[in-house]
Amino acid sequence: MGKHSIAVIKGDGIGVDVVDEALKVLRALAGRHSIEWEFVEFPWSSEYYFEHGEMMPSDGVDQLKGFDAIFLGAVGHPEVQDHITLNGLLLPIRRAFDQYACVRPSVLLPGVESPLSDVKPYDIDLIVVRENTEGEYANVGGFQYRDFPDEVAVQSAVFTRKGCERVIRYAFELCRERNKKMHVMSITKSNAQGYGMVLWDRTFDAVKAEYPDITTDSLLIDAACMDFIRRPQTFDVVVASNLFGDILTDIGAIITGSMGLASSANLDPTRTSPSMFEPTHGSAPDIAGMGIANPMAQILTSALMLDHLGENDAADAVRSAVEDVLSEGEILTPDLGGSSTTAAVGDSIAAMVS
Ligand code: NAD
Ligand code: IPM
Ligand code: MN
Repeated sequence: MGKHSIAVIKGDGIGVDVVDEALKVLRALAGRHSIEWEFVEFPWSSEYYFEHGEMMPSDGVDQLKGFDAIFLGAVGHPEVQDHITLNGLLLPIRRAFDQYACVRPSVLLPGVESPLSDVKPYDIDLIVVRENTEGEYANVGGFQYRDFPDEVAVQSAVFTRKGCERVIRYAFELCRERNKKMHVMSITKSNAQGYGMVLWDRTFDAVKAEYPDITTDSLLIDAACMDFIRRPQTFDVVVASNLFGDILTDIGAIITGSMGLASSANLDPTRTSPSMFEPTHGSAPDIAGMGIANPMAQILTSALMLDHLGENDAADAVRSAVEDVLSEGEILTPDLGGSSTTAAVGDSIAAMVS
């Protein structure tokens, strides 16, 4: 249907391999869906850092401004401290482009084994909406008496009424659009975090009053971690602060089979700036370079990008190709019990959508 210019940042570790496979799939579907792709690659990564002393150039964010979307693999290298790599690339992009809604679906698909007993395909079908620009990830704090025995670190969480309200409202709107259980669960910790989380709770109560067609509950984060294991079937839309959403979505990934299936989108719902599409998983140094990373998370992430670009048919085609490969159960990477390579999985999905 359209022409789309995409900034591609493969990043580190398995990010490079899984982005290559997702690009294969996106190129393969172009003809059938009349899409013209312009992919512009940016080599920003830990390798770039070794060479240039920074993760991206100082005008990096400006360079990304004009794109329709950013497609990113993963960032993180065993030889560089994570706070340098992530605060040098991923987190500043999320903040600069005000990508305030991080959307992470977890669906148990046919052919995939959950580590939980007694769950059937689609029993788990939830989506976490994670606040993505402030909260516990606000870059506010500092060291005092650095490297002295009395060193002090201060790390402040920042909760704003506007920041809470917009992401909570986004969750309610998404719930209506999904039209499934019509339920939004708020995740809190206001029993211990008596300011930020209390503002979160108050804002949730105010917004929910505007959605009488949607039922709601509130769970403390510790109990929510338990219920993601004990009764994941009960969740529909879950809205959480930045850190709580981060933690919950790794649980959501593993109960639905693998980190290698967990897609994610960092959205600026106002469409003022480009949104960024990167899977939930990281650079997986334990399997990097082995050619066995599951590219499905990145490929399903590309389906979220297609949806955002208005290419809904193409997005559906990608999702059904992944589902077909999963239910056939023949070409799977080791995380799903198979012995196929990253490239073999990418090839089989690309062949189905072309
Ligand atoms: P991780 O998600 O990279 O890996 C966790 C586990 O899941 C590992 O055992 C890994 O092998 C497995 N795994 C992840 N993705 C997989 C895939 N596609 N196929 C098969 N198995 C997969 O998390 P980590 O080990 O805690 O972090 C590694 C590095 O990545 C760190 O530097 C971290 O900061 C960074 N990280 C980056 C992002 C991102 O860029 N969005 C996200 C999470 C972690
Ligand atoms: C994620 C990652 C990042 C996060 C890290 C790498 C900073 O874990 O996207 O889930 O915590 O947001
Ligand atoms: Mn995470």
